[in-house]
Amino acid sequence: MDFFEYKNGELHCEDSKLSLLAERYGTPSYIYSQSTLLKHCRRLLQAFSNYPTTACFAVKSNSNHTVLKTIFEEGFGADLVSAGELQRSLSAGVDPSKIVFSGVGKLDNEILMALDANIMSFNVESDFELHSIARLAAVRKKVARVSLRINPNIDAKTNEKIATGLYSTKFGIPETELQAHLQIIKNSPHLKLIGVACHIGSQITELAPLREAAHRMATIAKDVVAAGFPIELVDMGGGLGIKYSKENAIELEDYATTLIDAIKPTGLKLVIEPGRVLVGNIGVLLTQVIGVKKTPQKNFIIVDAAMNDLIRPTLYGSYHDIIPVVQSLEKTATTLCDFVGPICESSDFLGKDRTCVVPKAGDLFAIRGCGGYAAIMSGNYNSRAMAPEIIVEGTRERVIKRRQLLPEIWQYELQD
Ligand code: LLP
Repeated sequence: MDFFEYKNGELHCEDSKLSLLAERYGTPSYIYSQSTLLKHCRRLLQAFSNYPTTACFAVKSNSNHTVLKTIFEEGFGADLVSAGELQRSLSAGVDPSKIVFSGVGKLDNEILMALDANIMSFNVESDFELHSIARLAAVRKKVARVSLRINPNIDAKTNEKIATGLYSTKFGIPETELQAHLQIIKNSPHLKLIGVACHIGSQITELAPLREAAHRMATIAKDVVAAGFPIELVDMGGGLGIKYSKENAIELEDYATTLIDAIKPTGLKLVIEPGRVLVGNIGVLLTQVIGVKKTPQKNFIIVDAAMNDLIRPTLYGSYHDIIPVVQSLEKTATTLCDFVGPICESSDFLGKDRTCVVPKAGDLFAIRGCGGYAAIMSGNYNSRAMAPEIIVEGTRERVIKRRQLLPEIWQYELQD
């Protein structure tokens, strides 16, 4: 559910016309809906309201300051993976006692920073990481709270580039290695095991793998308690998929019931790390047609957004719906078209083989599903400035990241 709708034949974000936003702020631009964000946050918390749950927003999915601030004000903690994400989250007001620090390669300075912030949990993925955290906690004269991220070897049935639950990936500790890791923790006065964690992948659209993972983690948690570690929590990670096109989106209530049913018998607290499900559908990438090239094969609609703005189609072959800002463009006879950017690569495309009315220069399109893993993954390839982010609430618009100025692209380089 989102608040991007046609009213009188014109696409709106809440009560603002996208055509007016394009006039005011130019294109390409990311446009977010504040009401959609709030709705998603509240529905998710509501779904888990009957069980002690800490929801830590996966900051990597959209770390714009204003977006983070809104999400933290709604009561979410943070799942983060770097010193940068830690600093951002603290400056956006996160409660440090609701932070989990994930990732396979935490650096010493990052571990120290997180120790100083008194975070809830380091989600540890290797023996060398346990040794580093113990060493640095000793320096700080602290006891670090750690959870072991387990790789349960479960196929999340998603795009293989964003699947993390199988032994073929770099993530987590294989169950077979669990005992050895527990021993390291037992031997260190600077480590306290507070939980077990997993994250089997992202954009998951079937409940079965999540259910299997939750039951597996409940069993592991019980074994860990029986082995003499009085842990507090089971962290089930993120991964809930959204509707980009025709895929099945799991209902939040079904997701919550599935996790709670599995974890409840352990008596432990639940932690979740949602990213995409909160932000994925809060935004569109607004773009303008530069021109149309007709070839014997197909029509290429060349737009002013490109793979540097939105890399998901290029990187994962991801599908994003592309809809016209003026609805009449949707109605009449259609042709097979590729939406492509101006970057000098054949891999620079935003949508392939779409049926649409052949547009003309200046027509506007909205690329949907661009609130998560979109602006955040943009770059400066071809020395293209990064697009602004604008959030709309009713008729109120706020530029929450301004368009980058061209000289800012090369400002860190040595100038003769
Ligand atoms: N927790 C951990 C440890 C993660 O690695 C991730 C995502 C999440 C939580 C949040 O997952 P979500 O609820 O958003 O599915 N760039 C890719 C997605 C990469 C996801 C990486 N990890 C994309 O554009 O689809």
